[in-house]
Amino acid sequence: MAYTKGSADVVIIGGGVIGLAIARGLALRGAGDVCLIERGTLGAEASFAAAGMLLPQVEADAEDDFFKLACRSRDLYPSFAAALREETGIDVELDTTGTLYLALNEHDNEEIEKRCGWQKRAGLSVDLLNVAEVRELEPCISESALGALLFPDDIQVENRRLLSALANSVNNLGVRVFTETNVESLEMKRDRVEGVQTSRGPIRCKSIVIAAGTWSSFLLRSSVLPDPGMQPVRGQMICLESKPHLTRHVLYSPRGYLVPRQDGRLLAGSTSESAGFAKRVTAGGISSILQNTLEISPAIAELAVVDTWAGLRPRPADGLPVLGACGEIDGLFYATGHYRNGILLAPLTAELITEAIMAGVTSPLLAPFSPDRFSSQPV
Ligand code: FAD
Ligand code: GLY
Repeated sequence: MAYTKGSADVVIIGGGVIGLAIARGLALRGAGDVCLIERGTLGAEASFAAAGMLLPQVEADAEDDFFKLACRSRDLYPSFAAALREETGIDVELDTTGTLYLALNEHDNEEIEKRCGWQKRAGLSVDLLNVAEVRELEPCISESALGALLFPDDIQVENRRLLSALANSVNNLGVRVFTETNVESLEMKRDRVEGVQTSRGPIRCKSIVIAAGTWSSFLLRSSVLPDPGMQPVRGQMICLESKPHLTRHVLYSPRGYLVPRQDGRLLAGSTSESAGFAKRVTAGGISSILQNTLEISPAIAELAVVDTWAGLRPRPADGLPVLGACGEIDGLFYATGHYRNGILLAPLTAELITEAIMAGVTSPLLAPFSPDRFSSQPV
């Protein structure tokens, strides 16, 4: 067994999209000796299971703090994707065709009218289309659709290519990556971090970033540190083959979605289940995804099923991400709880956590998501 060198400037726990993006951000800013520790292989958990949709507007009911964070991160994607291509030669297939949010019954119709109303008043890009206009854009859409919202700025990325690009980038930038290495505990001395204990030995460090997705609370439960009470929310996915392409847009309804990939895969998702850490595909899950996506486009009935999988979304007790410095312990940072939006939030999370570690500055965008909201002691 290879042992870890005993010290680093920053230790990042977790090699999903969040840990990788932060490792890259820190290395680009010259943070010194950055060490990323992953229990299994890089990018094999929720980040691999995701659909890659970048949809702050589609899913928003109001212009709140989360919406501002999500839009800002989405808007970083073109430069993020271009920089990763420059650094690694990998195209993350940022697809800017846009998203259609379909109304498939009267209740959906009322919802899209409300969403269209507030977003237009806020000056955001959104168009209300009647059924003829929707079917002209995407003829595969169900004849029972009543209309749709077109969100031209809500786009998608190929998240598995994104993970490969980030892994390549951190490797090129000299981040020390340990896979198959479990972080067993955080080590503190009085009110500052001292290091981590891993399955390959201890590492002393000045800063620790918790980016362990749905497993983050296991690192916190036996201590007095703020614990967001992370719960896994299982999402299952079906991969269809669609050659020629059935749709160019991401097709979204309140019950399901279809996401076309450049290579002809068509992702059909998803479920939201409390099933503990059982990351499996079930007959009931497949059945509900098919029901909800056939409602969007009956034409998928003819497509071949080429793959299925499941992943665990990291959901904190209040459903919001947990981002920034821990007020109780110097050198401890949280970057977790991204729930349904970790791919979307990765570029901004990386930028703002890097800034917090290197400059000691907490952006006003991060303040509402502080881990201190879960503190049992006044900070
Ligand atoms: P993960 O990718 O789960 O990574 C955490 C890593 O930490 C894991 O690799 C794990 O092995 C490691 N780890 C845990 N504990 C330890 C330890 N003690 N020591 C060392 N390593 C440890 N988001 C979007 O933005 N758009 C979407 O379209 C979208 N679709 C989704 C569809 C599905 C079906 C699912 C399941 C999720 C979807 N998401 C989507 C959500 C997104 O996938 C997550 O929010 C995101 O991947 C979280 O990233 P992460 O790096 O925090 O977690
Ligand atoms: N954001 C899509 C999902 O979590 O299924």
